[in-house]
Amino acid sequence: MITFDAVTKRYPDGTVAVDSLSLEAPTGEITVFVGPSGCGKTTSLRMINRMIDATEGQILLDGVPVQGIDPPTLRRGIGYVIQQAGLFPHRKIIDNIATVPYLLGWDRKKARARAMELLERVGLDPAFAGRYPFQLSGGQQQRVGVARALAADPPVLLMDEPFSAVDPVVRTSLQEELLRLQAELNKTIVFVTHDIDEAIKLGDRVAVLRVGGKLAQLADPKTLLSEPADDFVREFLGHDRGIRRLQFVSTERLRLRTDLTVPEGSTGPADEPWLLVVNGAGRPLGWISGARPDELEPYGTYVHGRDSMRSALDAALLSPSGCAVAVDEDGKAVGVATREALDEALAEAADG
Ligand SMILES: Nc1ncnc2c1ncn2[C@@H]1O[C@H](COP(=O)(O)OP(=O)(O)OP(=O)(O)O)[C@@H](O)[C@H]1O
Ligand SMILES: [Mg+2]
Repeated sequence: MITFDAVTKRYPDGTVAVDSLSLEAPTGEITVFVGPSGCGKTTSLRMINRMIDATEGQILLDGVPVQGIDPPTLRRGIGYVIQQAGLFPHRKIIDNIATVPYLLGWDRKKARARAMELLERVGLDPAFAGRYPFQLSGGQQQRVGVARALAADPPVLLMDEPFSAVDPVVRTSLQEELLRLQAELNKTIVFVTHDIDEAIKLGDRVAVLRVGGKLAQLADPKTLLSEPADDFVREFLGHDRGIRRLQFVSTERLRLRTDLTVPEGSTGPADEPWLLVVNGAGRPLGWISGARPDELEPYGTYVHGRDSMRSALDAALLSPSGCAVAVDEDGKAVGVATREALDEALAEAADG
C-alpha cells in the first residue's frame, strides 16, 4: 500500500503543485490520479519514487517512509512507465526490456529470457526482440515500455499518461491489455491521466485533483459517477454521466424472454411484432417482423451477466426491434431483453 500523508510540494519558485494530499493506494489495485493540466498529477507520482522530494508530509510504502529509502533501492521495487514509452533509441527491444535486470546484475541469458517472456506477455511478436524502437509503432513502443517496467517484477507500477500519445483504437487495446495483465499480476498501480473515461475504465479507485494539487474526490468509479462531490467534479466528469454509470450496472437481473427465438426456416407465433431467427448452432442471424417475414433485420448482442446494462442498451439501439439479444460467452442466443425488460432494469438502476 502507498500512503500519502499530508503531502505538499512547493517548487523553489513558490508554485504549490501538491497541497496537503492525503490518500491511500491499496495493494493490488489500480489507483488513478486524474485532473486538468497542471493539477499536480506528475508531481504526485514522482514523489513516490523520489524523482521529486516532498516539501512537507510523507509518503509511505507499506508503512515505511520513502524518505528513508535511498532512491536506487526504492526504484528497484517500482516500475515506471511514461508517455511515448521513453525507450532507449540505440538499444534493441530485448535489451530495452532487460534494462533493470541488467542493472540488477542478472545473468545476461536469464535477463534476455525474462525479456522474451514479457514481450509475449504484453502481446508482441517475439520477432520484435531484435528491432530498434524506431522500427515499432507508437502503440507497440508503449507495450515495450510496459514490459520494461515489469521486467524485474516490481510490486509497484507508476504510470504517467502512458497511453496518451496513441490513437483511440490502439489506446483502447492498450487499456484492455493492462486490465488483463493486472488480473494476472496484481500489482499496486498508480496511473496518471487527464482523461476521465480512461480513469473510470481502469481505476479501482479514482482520485480527482484540481489545480493547486488539492484532492477534490477519491472514490470508486461508480460512486464518482453517481455522487460527484461538487461542481468541479461534476463538470470534469462531463455530460453523459447517467449513461456512463450504466456500465457498472449488471445485466444479471435483466429479465429475458426465451419465446421470441425461432430456428431458421420456421415461423413463430404470429402475434409477436418481432422474432429473432437463429441458426442450427443457436447463433442469432437477425430479426424478422410480421410485416416483412423474409427480411432479416440487424441485431445487437451483449453477453448476459458479463456485459453491463450500457452494452445491453447499446445492443437494443442497434436494432429496429428495440430489443437486445442476450448471448452466452460462445455467442449463442440465450434470450431476448425486450423494451419492457430494459425499461424495468433502467428504472431500477435509476433508483440506485
Ligand atoms: N520544476 C518545477 N518548477 C516550478 N513549477 C513546476 C515544476 N514542475 C512542475 N511545476 C508546476 O507544478 C504544477 C503541477 O505540475 P505537474 O507536472 O505535476 O502537473 P500535471 O498534473 O502532471 O499536468 P499535465 O496534465 O499537464 O501533465 C504546475 O503548475 C507546474 O507548472
Ligand atoms: Mg503530467
